[in-house]
Amino acid sequence: MTDPVAVMKEEVGKAAAARVQSGTIVGLGTGSTTACAIAAIGDRLKTGDLKDIVGIPTSFQAEVLSKQYGIPLTSLDAVDHIDLAIDGADEVDPQKNLIKGGGAAHTREKVVDYLAAQFIVVVDGGKLVSKLGEKFKVPVEVIPMAITPVMRAIAQLGGEPELRMGVKKAGPVVTDQGNLVVDVHFADIPDPVGLEQTLNNIPGVLENGIFVNCTDLVLIGEIVDGQPKIRQI
Ligand code: 5RP
Repeated sequence: MTDPVAVMKEEVGKAAAARVQSGTIVGLGTGSTTACAIAAIGDRLKTGDLKDIVGIPTSFQAEVLSKQYGIPLTSLDAVDHIDLAIDGADEVDPQKNLIKGGGAAHTREKVVDYLAAQFIVVVDGGKLVSKLGEKFKVPVEVIPMAITPVMRAIAQLGGEPELRMGVKKAGPVVTDQGNLVVDVHFADIPDPVGLEQTLNNIPGVLENGIFVNCTDLVLIGEIVDGQPKIRQI
C-alpha cells in the first residue's frame, strides 16, 4: 500500500521543482521532502526541460543527492546571489514562520534560504500549526565546549533542553559543522522573532531553527478525496 505522506512529499517536491527556471542559481534544502524536489529537478535536467542551473546545497545530504541526480553544484564563494531556494520544514505557522532543523541542518539552511530572492517551503499538510512549538521542539546548534552552560542558559529562559542523540550511532548527533544539537521544548512561544534572537545571543549557540519573516511561498501537499493536491499559502 502506498504511504499517503510519501505521496504528498513527492507531489509537493515535483510542484516546487516545476518552479525552477533555466539559467538560475538554486538553494537545495535538506530532508525527505526536499529530496523529492531534488530528484524532480534532476528529472527535468535529464529531459532537457531545464538547463544551465547550479545548486547550492544546504547539507552533506543535499550535496550527495544533487550529485546523484546530476545537478551541478557551486558554493557561496562563487556566486553573488541565489535566485530560488527550496527547503522543507518541521512546522509552519499562519505567518509562514517556521521551525526547521529536524535534520540538524538548520544553520546552513538558514544561510542559504535567507539569501534567496525567493524562498519556497515544501511540506505535507501535517506540518501546519497554529503556533510555533505546538508539536516540534526548537533545534539549537551549539559548539561542543559550550554545551553545559548553553543548556543551563536555555533552562533559565524557561525551555527544556535535550541533547539530540544519534540513531544507529552511539552518542550525540554531530552536525555537518562538527557541533551538537539541543532540542528545546517551550510550553509557549508568544514571540518567535524575539526568541530567535534571544537564543542566538547565548554565547556558544551557533544558530537555532526558528525561521521568521523569510518565507515567500509554502507549497502544501495534501490528500483530498483520495487524490494528492497542492495548496499554497
Ligand atoms: C533539516 C530540515 C528539514 O527541512 C525538515 O526537518 C523537514 O524534513 P522532512 O521533509 O524530512 O520532513 O529542517 O534540518
